[in-house]
Amino acid sequence: MSEKVKLEYNGKIYEFPVIVGTEGEKAIDIRELREKTGFITYDPGLANTGVCKSSITYVNGEKGILRYRGYPIEELAEKSTFVETAYLLLNGELPTKEELKAFSDKLNDHSLVHEDMREFFQNFPRRAHPMGILSSMVTALREFYPELKEGGEEELNTTLARLLSKVRTMAAMAYKISRGHKVIYPRHDLSYCANFLNMMFDSPVKPYVIDDDIVKGLNIFWILHADHEQNCSTAAVRLVGSAKVNIYAAISAGISALWGPLHGGANQAVIEMLKEIYENGGDPKPFIERAKDKNDPFRLMGFGHRIYKTHDPREKIMKKLCHKILDKLKIKDPLLDIARKLEEMALNDPYFQEKKLYPNVDFYSGIFLRAIGIPENMFTVMFAIGRLPGWLAQWKESMEDPDGKLYRPRQVYVGPSKREYIPIEEREKSTATEST
Ligand code: SDX
Repeated sequence: MSEKVKLEYNGKIYEFPVIVGTEGEKAIDIRELREKTGFITYDPGLANTGVCKSSITYVNGEKGILRYRGYPIEELAEKSTFVETAYLLLNGELPTKEELKAFSDKLNDHSLVHEDMREFFQNFPRRAHPMGILSSMVTALREFYPELKEGGEEELNTTLARLLSKVRTMAAMAYKISRGHKVIYPRHDLSYCANFLNMMFDSPVKPYVIDDDIVKGLNIFWILHADHEQNCSTAAVRLVGSAKVNIYAAISAGISALWGPLHGGANQAVIEMLKEIYENGGDPKPFIERAKDKNDPFRLMGFGHRIYKTHDPREKIMKKLCHKILDKLKIKDPLLDIARKLEEMALNDPYFQEKKLYPNVDFYSGIFLRAIGIPENMFTVMFAIGRLPGWLAQWKESMEDPDGKLYRPRQVYVGPSKREYIPIEEREKSTATEST
């Protein structure tokens, strides 16, 4: 017998079933709330609302736990690769050697971008932000490839592999073309991450030397970003996908949502903040005071999280990765020292302690990306490539969800009640403002 909760109103008692998740988290099933009570709920930002049941990623914000298909992020970051983790997210199980090889081969088979698409890249202004280019190009991809029909599992897997592989290639193309440099093609003899680095940094005059530590670091970076349950951009993918639009348009919506500085755009905003602190003498204190000032819209970028009310487990791994890569490359990045000073000051400040504001995945990720030579305006693109397997897995799960419905939230209307139309001759300027 499933648990129930009771809602009492005006002497009437209404009962609603309770749904219990794998880890014991509980939800009130309010699908019949309006029908039974006439009420809707009010929950801006859906902070207290579950929009789906999912088997992909588990996050416990109070304990700082993150698991993909049950595997702790710490283990995957240490022992897995990004391609293997993408397979796990998409298929629910770690692949056998044969399955991983077949998946990698499929990614290679779909790594090229249609030559006609290069014209599109050429015609963006040189200063175009790569996130705007990427979201446009992903939507355009659909016109080069047949929409998913009843092609079954095989066609779906090809489409998923196509996106996983081509988005990485397009990101590197956008970078090269924005610099006026020769586009470097993907190579079948390189791994997914090594291929990306080679496409970004190889050149006809100076061949790129693959550094295994950097490749390992990029695998870890993308594993950490691969999924994060119902974050803003994943919710965008699910919402747009719920209209049964093609998968390319749904992913493009995810890219656009991720671009925001409150979400994936934070990694670029963190570096801009650290640089500003550096250029103003290196003391983070004024920025911390600004972040605490209710009248100042400034927020400490890379700090705070809707779910994590303790350390983001990804931030700890990212911080360690920064030190490892900077030591290996013998880079002394003053921004890392500022980041550590800022982190320590904020963690010891009552404002951040009371509001449970801790560094999130974006706080150190920019330091790592700078160290391996990624330009700042590509930081959020790097997040998007990492998050793509998560978006695809969540989209696939939403398409197969028996409870799945078109997203159509309700509202509480607080506008004007019914009123008569006033002919323009009879309208006085003041009445127009009074009645709004
Ligand atoms: C990502 O959801 C995900 O999973 C996202 C992500 C993923 O993997 O997909 O983890 C990736 O997007 C990480 C977050 C990156 N964004 C930033 O670092 C931007 C800075 N952070 C904040 O803007 C903020 O913390 C959010 C947007 C991340 C979360 O904000 P919430 O949950 O909407 O919380 P809130 O705005 O209601 O803040 C609660 C209080 C407020 O103060 P009061 O109104 O209660 O007085 O905390 C304050 C906020 O002003 N606050 C901050 C702050 N974050 C929250 N104050 C100063 N600096 C901050 N960073």
